[in-house]
Amino acid sequence: MPREKINFGIIGLGLMGKEFASAAARWCHLLDDGPVPVVRGICNRSNEWDRQWFTANFPDIEIVTGNYRELLEDHRIDAIYCAVPHNLHEEYYINILQAGKHLLGEKPFGIDLEANKKILEATREHPGLIVRCSSEFAYYPGARRIIDWLNEQKYGRLMEVRCGFHHASDMDLDKPINWKRMVDINGEYGCMGDLGFHIHFIPLRFGWYPESVLASLQNIATERPSGDGTLVPCETWDNATVITESTDPLNGMPFSIQYETKRMAPGQTNTWFIEIYGTKGSARYSTHEPKAFYTLETRGREQGWTRTDIGPDSFIPSITGSIFESGFSDSMLQMLGAFLWEFKKDAAAHPFPAGHPEETHWSHKIMTAALESHKTGNKIIIKKS
Ligand SMILES: NC(=O)c1ccc[n+]([C@@H]2O[C@H](COP(=O)([O-])OP(=O)(O)OC[C@H]3O[C@@H](n4cnc5c(N)ncnc54)[C@H](O)[C@@H]3O)[C@@H](O)[C@H]2O)c1
Repeated sequence: MPREKINFGIIGLGLMGKEFASAAARWCHLLDDGPVPVVRGICNRSNEWDRQWFTANFPDIEIVTGNYRELLEDHRIDAIYCAVPHNLHEEYYINILQAGKHLLGEKPFGIDLEANKKILEATREHPGLIVRCSSEFAYYPGARRIIDWLNEQKYGRLMEVRCGFHHASDMDLDKPINWKRMVDINGEYGCMGDLGFHIHFIPLRFGWYPESVLASLQNIATERPSGDGTLVPCETWDNATVITESTDPLNGMPFSIQYETKRMAPGQTNTWFIEIYGTKGSARYSTHEPKAFYTLETRGREQGWTRTDIGPDSFIPSITGSIFESGFSDSMLQMLGAFLWEFKKDAAAHPFPAGHPEETHWSHKIMTAALESHKTGNKIIIKKS
């Protein structure tokens, strides 16, 4: 029987627009009989090379435009993947929903808390639409093991969680400035807006909402070369360390989470990690060692970590051989698989759906409080509502 097709329009054909399309192109990798994504329309501002890459590789493309509203008005489009700079999220996401299209939007889901609130209002006004925020790292097999441990309650009483995302490319002070380093386009959150949702996602999914936030932010590279080589101010935060206090909903006990988002972390290319320390068990995973899942079960005084080499054990089974390693493009495929799963009729829920709009809202609360904490030097108390 032919499989249902979900026709996507992609707005923003840069780094992430291409990752999305490439994942859609190897849908055969997933052992699943659900709907198939089809790249039907594309939109970017001006880059002709990007458009040609898409049209040369995706024969189902019927609409190529520089005006995103043309995709929204077109009946051939069911859903939009939107990967544009943060200053456009509010306008684009709201218009996508008002046009009646499903949305997989990119983080941070609004340039700031106010923009995020407006996107969430539009989401609530369209309850029939599937709206999710893209974040892939929870779909690495090692992250899945962390999630399994949480579901199996192997940690005992939680003591401390560390989540981080470390980059090093900004260690090159000659790297030219781009929109992600400009406050008016990337947002005041700086590195947090760029990397924060990726590390907030799993903690928020498990209900570890912050009750207080204490932050230390650094702007290390205060100038960068512009296109013509002249130095211009670079005002975004490079590195952020944010400590939150939460209550474990399983037992009402308090614990702390340390969130690190760093663009200047020596030696780290694109390292996402999570470490969970509990009284009974602890576990850690880092994309720096994609095969290694570290666990420790507390038995008396002596402690020892066990390293287990894991295969590509994913939420949606795939054809990948059981001894092969996973990478970013596999996690992208799994995350997109989770989004497509929601179009299935009569299927059991996916075990770990893609980011909910409400989770992006909590992520914004953490980042907004972090800005205030750094500015005032105070620990910021977060209201529940
Ligand atoms: N999920 C992830 O792992 C991940 C990784 C990187 C970036 N992102 C997010 O994806 C989004 C895009 O980031 P990117 O790295 O792909 O950026 P990018 O600069 O590589 O691409 C941005 C694209 O947006 C297009 N664009 C800009 N203005 C436009 C307009 N007015 N109309 C239509 N298109 C326009 C550009 O032409 C370009 O194709 C951001 O929200 C970013 O935070 C997510």
